[in-house]
Amino acid sequence: MRILSLRLIVALIVGISLVSVASSWYEVRNENATLRRDLEHKAGPLGESLAANAESFQQEGNRAGLEQMAKQFTNRDHLLGIAVFAADGAPLVVTPSLESMLTPPPPQLRSALDTNRPQSRFALQRLRTVYLQAIPLHDWAKHVSGAIVVVHDAGYIQTSILQIWGRAFIRIAVNVLVIVVITLLILRWSLAGPVTRMGQWMRALRAGRPAVPPTASDLDFLGPLAQEVGPLAESLQKARTAAETEARLRNANESLWTAQRLADQVRSQLDGSNLFVVSNREPYTHNRRGKEIVVSVPASGVVTAIEPILCACNGTWIAHGSGDADIESSDRHGRLKVPPGEPRYTLRRVWLSHEQEAGYYYGFSNEGLWPLCHIAHARPMFRTSDWEHYVAANKKFADALVEEIDGEAHPLVLIQDYHFALLPRMLKERMPHARIAIFWHIPWPNSESFGICPWQRELLDGLLGADLIGFHLQAHCNNFLDCVDRFLEARIDREHFSVSRNNHETRVRPFPISVEFSEDTHESSRSIVEDRSALLAELGVEATYLGVGVDRVDYTKGIIERFQAVEAFLERYPRYQEHFTFIQIGAPTRSRIKRYEEFQAEVANEAERINNRFMRGRWKPIVFSYRDHSHHEVQRYYRVAHLCMVTSLHDGMNLVAKEFVATRSDERGVLILSQFTGAARELFDAIIVNPYDTQECSDAIAQALNMSVDEMADRMRRMRATVKDHNVYRWAANLIGALCDVRLESRDRSTSSGSHRKA
Ligand code: G6P
Repeated sequence: MRILSLRLIVALIVGISLVSVASSWYEVRNENATLRRDLEHKAGPLGESLAANAESFQQEGNRAGLEQMAKQFTNRDHLLGIAVFAADGAPLVVTPSLESMLTPPPPQLRSALDTNRPQSRFALQRLRTVYLQAIPLHDWAKHVSGAIVVVHDAGYIQTSILQIWGRAFIRIAVNVLVIVVITLLILRWSLAGPVTRMGQWMRALRAGRPAVPPTASDLDFLGPLAQEVGPLAESLQKARTAAETEARLRNANESLWTAQRLADQVRSQLDGSNLFVVSNREPYTHNRRGKEIVVSVPASGVVTAIEPILCACNGTWIAHGSGDADIESSDRHGRLKVPPGEPRYTLRRVWLSHEQEAGYYYGFSNEGLWPLCHIAHARPMFRTSDWEHYVAANKKFADALVEEIDGEAHPLVLIQDYHFALLPRMLKERMPHARIAIFWHIPWPNSESFGICPWQRELLDGLLGADLIGFHLQAHCNNFLDCVDRFLEARIDREHFSVSRNNHETRVRPFPISVEFSEDTHESSRSIVEDRSALLAELGVEATYLGVGVDRVDYTKGIIERFQAVEAFLERYPRYQEHFTFIQIGAPTRSRIKRYEEFQAEVANEAERINNRFMRGRWKPIVFSYRDHSHHEVQRYYRVAHLCMVTSLHDGMNLVAKEFVATRSDERGVLILSQFTGAARELFDAIIVNPYDTQECSDAIAQALNMSVDEMADRMRRMRATVKDHNVYRWAANLIGALCDVRLESRDRSTSSGSHRKA
C-alpha cells in the first residue's frame, strides 16, 4: 500500500507539473510576443520622427541640434538613447550612456547604410536585451548621408517573463500539494480500509482461521475484484479440504485413488499432450424451462471419472449436443467452456439431425448393438438406413475430432462406448499420430451371437483402428478376440492380448469401471430409522422392511423378474406380507424406441398386478417410481433400504451395485446381485443370484432380511473395501496409463514379439 501511494504521488507530481509547465510555457510565449509587438509599435513612429529631425539638422549642418537631440532623448519610456552616424559609419553624436554599447557600431547600421532601408531587431548588447532601429538619413539630393540608431530597452520584457514563470511555479506547487493531499485522503478513506479488511479476511482464510467476509459496501467499492474474490476463496477452501483429505488418505492408504491423485498422475503422464474425450452423452446439457435456460449434469459414472482429468489438463470433450438450448449456449463452432461458472475445459458439441439421431442413436446403437451385445432375448434390429446414419454420425464425430486435434503433436483420444465403433479407424486414418482408446461400456458377445450382425467386419475393423480397446471383463476381451479371429484377417497375440492388422497393433484389456467412493456420505442429522419412516411417509406407504432397485427402465435390467421374485417371496414367506415393500426407482430411457415404450408399460402393469393381489391398507408390495431422480434422491433410498436388488439379465458392470455399497458407510444393508453382471466378479459378498430363477431370488430376499447384523457388516465391509480400492479414479488412471504406454510398448515389442499368425 505504501509503495502504491508513493508511486501514485510521484505519478501525480510528474503529471500535474508537466501539464502546468506546458500551459505556462504557452502563456509565456504569448506574453513575450505581445510585449515585443507593443514595443515595436511604439518604437516605429518614434524612430521615424527622430530620423526626420536628425535629417533636417544634418542637412542644415546643425551639429548642436544633433547633440541636443542625443542628450534630450534618453531614458524616456524605455528609450535608452540615440546615435547619429555619418555615411561612412563614423559616429557623429551618441547619447553618452550608449557610447560603450554602440562601440563598435551594431551590424544593423551597416545594413541600413548599404541597403538604404530601415533595419530593426531585438539584440543582446553588452548583456542587455535591447530593441535596435537603424534608419538611413538623406541629404538634399536624397543620397544616404548617414543613419540614426535608436535604442530601446527590452529588458523589462525579460523581467515580466520571469515574473510569469515565478507565478507559474507557485501555482504548480499549490496544485500538486492540494491534489496529492486529496488523493491520499481518498486512498486512506475509500481504498485502504476495504483493501485492508479484505486482506485480513484472506489472510485468515489462508491460515484456516474463522473469518468474517468483507461487508457489502466494501465489496461494492471493490467491484469486479470482489466478484472474483468470493469464488476464489471458495476454491481455496475446496482445494484445502481436498488436499487435507488427500493427505489423510495418503497416510491411511497409499493405494487409494482420488480425483486429485488421478488429475496429478494424468497431468504428469500426458507431459504436454492434450486429452480428447468422445461420448454420445454430454457432461452438461442446456435446456429451456420457460424463459430460463437450465444446465443439467447426467448422473453418470463416466462424467465423475473423466471430468477431473479434463479439468486438470484443460482437455476437450466432444459429445452430441442434445439439449434444446445447447445451440444458443455454445459458440458458432459448437464450443463452450465448462464447468459453468468455473471453466476448466472445452465441451465441443456435435449437432445431429433428428433423422441422424433416430438412425444412429435409437436405431443402430440401441435397437441393433445394444440387444446384440446383451443376452436378454430381445431381437436386434439391423436396418440398412440405421447403419448408414451410424456411419454418417461416426464420420461427423471424426470430423469434429480432426478439427479439434488439428495441430496437436501427441494427442490422446478416449472414445466412450458402442455408439462409436467406427470412429477409431476413421480417426486413425486421418490422424495416425493420435493415440486412441475406446472403452466399450457394455458386454461383448460371443462370436455366434455377434455373427448375426450384417456389419460384423466393419464394426471389428473400425474398432481395431484404436491402439487400445477396453472392456469391463477379461471374458469380454476373450469374446472380442474370438470374433476377430473368426471374421477378420488379423494376427492375434493371445499371450499379450493384442491384434495386429495392416501393420497396426491394438491392445485389448479389461478395465472394470467403478464409482466414486467417499468415506462418509451420510449428511442427514436423523437416524436411518427416522429417515426411512420419513421416506415411507412421503410415499404414503406403511412398511417395516424396505428393498430398493434403481435402474433405467431397460429390458436388460431384469425388473419384471425382480417383481416376480418379490411376489414369490410374499407367497413363500407370508409373514412378510404387510411388512416388506420393494421400491423400484425407474429412470425413463430411450422411450422413443417401441420396445422400451412397451417395456415401461409391462413393468407398470406387473407392479400393479402384484400390488392388486397383495395390497392391504397403507401397505403395498411394490412402489414403482417412474421418473428421473437426482443422485441425491437415489442416495436417500440406498441409505434406508434393508436390501438392494440388482437382477440384470446381462450387464457389462452395473454401477448401481457399487453405488449402493459405497453409500452404506453404516455397514448395513444387503446386496442381491445377478450373476450376469460384471460387478458379480468383484462383489463376492453380495448374495449372488440367477435372475431367471424366481425361487432362488425370493429366497435371497428372505436370506437378506434374516441376516445377522454381524454377517451383514462383515459382507458390507469387505465389499466396501473392494469398491474403495477399485474406485472410478483407479479405472480412469489405469485406462489412460495403458494408453500413454501403448506406443512405447508397441515399439519395444515389435522386435521381441512372440506372436503367431491366427487368421
Ligand atoms: C449404458 C451405456 C452408457 C450410457 C447408459 C445410458 O449403460 O453403456 O454409456 O450412458 O447406458 O444410456 P443413454 O442411452 O441414456 O445414454
